Amino acid sequence: PRPVIIDTDPGQDDAFAILLALAAPELEVLALTTVAGNMGLAQTTDNARRIVELAGRGEVPVYAGSARPLLRDPRPVPEIHGETGIDGWDWVPARQGAAPGHAVDYLVETLLGHPEKITLIVLGPQTNIALALRRAPDIAERIDQIVFMGGGFFEGGNMSPAAEYNILVDPEAARIVLNSGVPVTAVPLDCTHATPAPVNWSAALAAHGSEVMRACAGMMEFFERYGNAKYGTASRPLHDAVAVAALLWPELFTGRLCPVDVECAGELTTGMTVVDWLRQTGKKDNCTWLNGCTDPGEVYRRMESALARLGR
Ligand code: BDR
Ligand code: CA
Repeated sequence: PRPVIIDTDPGQDDAFAILLALAAPELEVLALTTVAGNMGLAQTTDNARRIVELAGRGEVPVYAGSARPLLRDPRPVPEIHGETGIDGWDWVPARQGAAPGHAVDYLVETLLGHPEKITLIVLGPQTNIALALRRAPDIAERIDQIVFMGGGFFEGGNMSPAAEYNILVDPEAARIVLNSGVPVTAVPLDCTHATPAPVNWSAALAAHGSEVMRACAGMMEFFERYGNAKYGTASRPLHDAVAVAALLWPELFTGRLCPVDVECAGELTTGMTVVDWLRQTGKKDNCTWLNGCTDPGEVYRRMESALARLGR
């Protein structure tokens, strides 16, 4: 299996992404690293522990990382994800805490020490990854690829007309990552909005009966409520889970390799991902920008059968 580290700020959709990665025989999840994003760092770290334990995979270590973006203030969003960040399920407290050491140290040491190149799945603000790349630039060669959920170009943003949440929270970090020379695949709103979950998916999940599936159903219901009210749709995409799906099943997604950068100084557009889709800048291609999904139903069918294999 392909070794991966998941950098995350759970988040209901992060939870689905993590559970899908844990369930996928194609992936070996070495660890989770956490970052301040949807919630503060202590909460996202505790949430990450609860998620691996729910999956029956408590042996997967969770390393706590950055409590603040590189230059800006944190922006927790309880109005989207609820007071815990993973509202919708009555979580039991985590049995174990974070592993000792900082996530950035863990990333650097593991990337340099592991016999194989490692894929990074990045589901929140990109602070930890940017810090690791600055701290030890040599790690760039040890990263197989970075797959991140973030940005939006054809769809615009979800926090401002121009900016998507993960990029807006730490645009400087995203800029460092995109300009690092590491092969990057972006799973932006352009792609996730083209990959909505089936209508009433939560009921189908609950029908499986296992604890994991009932937790997923509860989180899905909570997540849908906010999204559907804002967007006026009958179902919502699970953004971060779509990023893991795109890594697992690239044949179900469309996109293009092209130059991508991040606006960090715009008056109206800070946090915008600027995608040179028509290659007009003459800059080097640095990112595979996913812009669509050929079969959303199939994505969620595969996700559901993977999740059903987990836990009790
Ligand atoms: C992204 O922002 C967060 O709220 C979600 O977890 C996802 O990573 C979507 O814009
Ligand atoms: Ca997230």
